[in-house]
Amino acid sequence: MAHQTMSFLIVVATLVFAPLCFAHNLYPQFYDHSCPKAKEIVYSVVAQAVAKEARMAASLLRLHFHDCFVKGCDASLLLDSSGSIVSEKGSNPNRNSARGFEVLDAIKSALEKECPNTVSCADILALAARDSTVITGGPSWEVPLGRRDSKGASLSGSNNNIPAPNNTFQTILTKFKLQGLDIVDLVALSGSHTIGNSRCTSFRQRLYNQSGNGLADMTLDKSYAAQLRSRCPRSGGDQNLFFLDFVSPTKFDNYYFKNLLASKGLLNSDQVLVTKNQQTMELVKKYAENSELFFEQFAKSMIKMGNISPLIGSSGEIRKNCRKINS
Ligand code: HEM
Repeated sequence: MAHQTMSFLIVVATLVFAPLCFAHNLYPQFYDHSCPKAKEIVYSVVAQAVAKEARMAASLLRLHFHDCFVKGCDASLLLDSSGSIVSEKGSNPNRNSARGFEVLDAIKSALEKECPNTVSCADILALAARDSTVITGGPSWEVPLGRRDSKGASLSGSNNNIPAPNNTFQTILTKFKLQGLDIVDLVALSGSHTIGNSRCTSFRQRLYNQSGNGLADMTLDKSYAAQLRSRCPRSGGDQNLFFLDFVSPTKFDNYYFKNLLASKGLLNSDQVLVTKNQQTMELVKKYAENSELFFEQFAKSMIKMGNISPLIGSSGEIRKNCRKINS
């Protein structure tokens, strides 16, 4: 009798709680039993890499974004070309730009030693993005885990889905909406540009010929533009590097938003947040005034971005090497 009552209670409990468990396919405790040291290992390799080169935090944060916007957060970005796979690393947004792949390799090989065939490359990207944010002074959050890795890549997805710096405000917003992200996520996540660098080629147009009339972008501060022109000439110097946030380029803070209000956003896609839309302009003001508000929303939006179409259950695989599919 007691046994039957117990069974009945278990069935009821399962029915009641199942929807809660399945509402989110990913959860932070995913590796607690299978690889209890996973999070520490990721953190320590990221911390070492950032200590060696401060910019690496920015580069790793960006990789998670470029992964999630193409076929979901499935580490498709990390695959090298081979066989039928054409690597996303050669796409317009990634070529001569996406970096940090060796750090992912180092994390993966440390994890394979500790617990083979267990931690996905897609989860490593999500954890490394969070750790990079924390290490540079930004907010922390619990990263939902349990993503699996893709068996393919999409070069066209990478070219089409990831917003370009010269896209219009509407195009950028549409590209976010196609991923299930909204206008608040757009502004908060753009705040990532509080760290890291851009090449001259990504914003040159603003300095010389913004709208085909041979004039600089009117919404760019004049003296800041002159400064930028000195190392980003009309032709040549394509790969010259510039800080996305010239005030505090290696610190995760809200200067990105303060710069936008002073017409000192580096990319066209940054500055349009204050010049093209009332709602984003107001959000920029709020985040410029209140960094806690920015941090809080950034964490929420990163979790939302990290939840884009993950492979779960028996879909995909756990790659042994992030650069190639298991054969
Ligand atoms: C809103 C649309 C966005 C556009 C158009 C955009 C565009 C760009 C461009 C053009 C660069 C410089 C690349 C180069 O010249 O090599 C860059 C850098 C960067 N982006 Fe974005 N981005 C966007 C959103 C995001 C988001 C959502 C994140 C992260 C969640 C992010 C994180 C970064 C970081 C951290 C860097 C610096 C990388 C480094 O120094 O290696 N960006 N972005």
